[in-house]
Amino acid sequence: MSWKESLSTDVTSVDRQHQDLIAAAQDFFARIHAGLSRGETVVALDGLIALVSEHFDHEERVMRNIALPSLATHAHLHRALLEEIQEFREETALGTNERSPADIEHFLNLWLYRHIVEEDLKIFHHLNRY
Ligand SMILES: [Fe+2]
Ligand SMILES: [Fe+2]
Repeated sequence: MSWKESLSTDVTSVDRQHQDLIAAAQDFFARIHAGLSRGETVVALDGLIALVSEHFDHEERVMRNIALPSLATHAHLHRALLEEIQEFREETALGTNERSPADIEHFLNLWLYRHIVEEDLKIFHHLNRY
């Protein structure tokens, strides 16, 4: 997936983070396809988790500042995704992964896209409601 104008939340900092996040995810997938050891995959996942976590904190701060009504539900979705990636990271570290990197790529791409379109764009609609 790639960022496009129709994904804009109307908040520059959030949009920039979405662009960085999408780029980082695609870079991670490309590296996995090129072949990473288990240790390298864990390090790459840690980087991705840090970026995602930082983004969620920032986005939730923005949502609080603009008094977005669905913030609690939104924050819950963020926590659920972080737990999911965290779990994949642990399974990768332990070598007990039942999901292949392709599974996680599919899951993450779909999640990222759907979450931005269905949830993050509520920021745009809230800012442009009148
Ligand atoms: Fe979000
Ligand atoms: Fe977001």
